[in-house]
Amino acid sequence: MIKHDKIERNATLLLVLSLLVVTIGGLVEIAPLYYIENTIEKVKGVRPYTPLELAGRNIYIREGCYVCHSQMVRPFRDEVERYGHYSLAAESMYDHPFQWGSKRTGPDLARVGGKYSDDWHVGHLKDPRALVPESVMPGYSFMASAELRTDDIAAHLKANSMIGVPYSEDMVANALADLKAQAGADEDGVEGLRARYGERTLARDFGGNGKKITEMDALVAYLQMLGTLVDFSAYKSDAPENLR
Ligand code: HEC
Repeated sequence: MIKHDKIERNATLLLVLSLLVVTIGGLVEIAPLYYIENTIEKVKGVRPYTPLELAGRNIYIREGCYVCHSQMVRPFRDEVERYGHYSLAAESMYDHPFQWGSKRTGPDLARVGGKYSDDWHVGHLKDPRALVPESVMPGYSFMASAELRTDDIAAHLKANSMIGVPYSEDMVANALADLKAQAGADEDGVEGLRARYGERTLARDFGGNGKKITEMDALVAYLQMLGTLVDFSAYKSDAPENLR
């Protein structure tokens, strides 16, 4: 009691001791971060984007889709019932920059993959009101004819690998070939694509315009894989059925 009195009456002593306490607290919280490799739990199925998906993601960012769409299902009952399993940190671990967003003029897109057919997406992106009459989403019909820029795709993979995405040299060297194979422009390349990115990697003419590779192909390929990498049925849960 008496001793504490001393500390409280001596401003300098109080300051020095407070600093000491804060320093210890800070060290305990910060120091471990330098020794562990990753703060994100690894989850089976999560892989880097294929070149075509990455190109689609770049278009998504270029067009500002994130201004109206979030990509994070929060762990609340209403969100889980509407969109599916809440988002895991690992599912956006290869996103640079992440697309969580902060505004939902349209629905969350974190789990939109597989929800609609490619045809639906193409029709909707060209003219949203043709499919959803009350929609306020702008149309992006130019994407169906805009040829996808592919000469810089290997550089995009390389840039991502520099900031920690585990693209192998093999992936970078085959970036263009994998992009063409996934867009349905080269069937012989699909085997190599799946060897590098996994058996479940989708490969087809996403944009529905034959061998020509357009921005529509890339964007739809990206939308169709969103939220599909983790197989949630493989995880046992104690949670009530509607919250899994
Ligand atoms: C001005 C805001 C706005 C922008 C920008 C926008 N959207 Fe939308 N989006 C909406 C709204 C509102 C809806 C809901 C109505 C509808 O389905 O059209 C929607 C719906 C969607 C859906 C259907 C989701 C579902 O689960 O039913 C997809 C997919 C989608 N948008 C993709 C995109 C993409 C890709 C872009 C960028 C190229 C984009 N949106 C840009 C407002 C926007």
